[in-house]
Amino acid sequence: MYKTITEGKANIRVPTEKKVSSELPVFYNPVMKLNRDLTVSVLANSGLHDVRVCLPLAGTGVRGIRLLLETNIVNEIVMNDFSKEAVKIIKQNLKLNKLDKDKRIKIENRYANALLDENEGFQYIDVDPFGYPGSFLDSAINKIGRNGIIGVTATDTSCLCGSYQGACQRKYWARSLRNIIMHETGLRILIRFVQLIGAKYDKALIPIFSYSSDHYMRVFFRCEKKLNALDKILSQHCYLTYCGKCFEWKVEKHIFAKQKCKCGHKNDYAGPLWSGKLWDKKLVKKMAKNSDLKVLQTIKEEMDVDVIGFYPISKVAERFKIHNIEKIDTIIEKIKKKGHKATRTHFIGEGVRTDIPVKRLVKLMG
Ligand SMILES: C[S@@+](CC[C@H](N)C(=O)[O-])C[C@H]1O[C@@H](n2cnc3c(N)ncnc32)[C@H](O)[C@@H]1O
Repeated sequence: MYKTITEGKANIRVPTEKKVSSELPVFYNPVMKLNRDLTVSVLANSGLHDVRVCLPLAGTGVRGIRLLLETNIVNEIVMNDFSKEAVKIIKQNLKLNKLDKDKRIKIENRYANALLDENEGFQYIDVDPFGYPGSFLDSAINKIGRNGIIGVTATDTSCLCGSYQGACQRKYWARSLRNIIMHETGLRILIRFVQLIGAKYDKALIPIFSYSSDHYMRVFFRCEKKLNALDKILSQHCYLTYCGKCFEWKVEKHIFAKQKCKCGHKNDYAGPLWSGKLWDKKLVKKMAKNSDLKVLQTIKEEMDVDVIGFYPISKVAERFKIHNIEKIDTIIEKIKKKGHKATRTHFIGEGVRTDIPVKRLVKLMG
């Protein structure tokens, strides 16, 4: 059974089932509206116009229909899903939005990699799978054109955030860590992984918009086909050593053995991971200007504090036995008064991204 809902400017037929799972007759997750809102926002502000777009894992077609109705990037769009039921619903959804006669749209019912492998290049490809994106990245990256954009979703966050370190090592070629900044280290592990696949095709994949939310992580990369750009991004892969006792982390180029922290506690480490920027500032400013999404306003502030990691204030208070916690905004103001940078982070509501050393932060909070 299906019902019609509205998302952005699109009317979409979606399954009536309340429980969202990959078992749905056609997959639609309302929680992923933010993912699609931000996809529309990145592309509407990306400078791409009239290009070839591919949605190899299209589901109900909602994302493609929204790109058609809410941006001017599409010259041709291929919407594909290997499920026959999904293709039937994509066609119904196109009709519902009066797009069924639009000559720019091609619908395919194939395996995503076969579709990508047998097509010409695209300027935007959206990799939005169930769970792990790695199975689709070779084909997608191989077909992304110069200055094109590729959007990648990963929903296997328990592996990226350290609950399943073995799986992370096998699938993302890096050690994840379950700690206070696990969402950021997970996102940075994902970025480096996608970049390494890009390197096989001599493509430098530069993150232009990255975030973590709910049960997933999402990164948009701009593709440059210059070897010096590729060398530059590969040189920005690093490790993070982390002390679970004093909450300090450090960027290290190499890890030789688990070292001890100054406090005597054993350090652990995550990585290799991306140590470069998570956002293109110009793009984020444009996105934030043209949208009232709260996450964009937060990231606009956050991107100016160019450090890795943040402090979840209640965890710092708990660890260092601080009983009266002030408001986050008060703590941020106090840090700034001491001459340091500080801002909220989109990663968690009670997080502060700052360049103040943890000892000084604790002193200031106590
Ligand atoms: C997470 S859903 C996509 C959701 C959609 N992009 C959206 O924004 O609502 C993944 C989709 O990929 C399809 N799929 C999974 N593996 C596939 C494959 N190997 N080739 C083509 N489609 C596949 C599934 O049928 C499902 O519709």
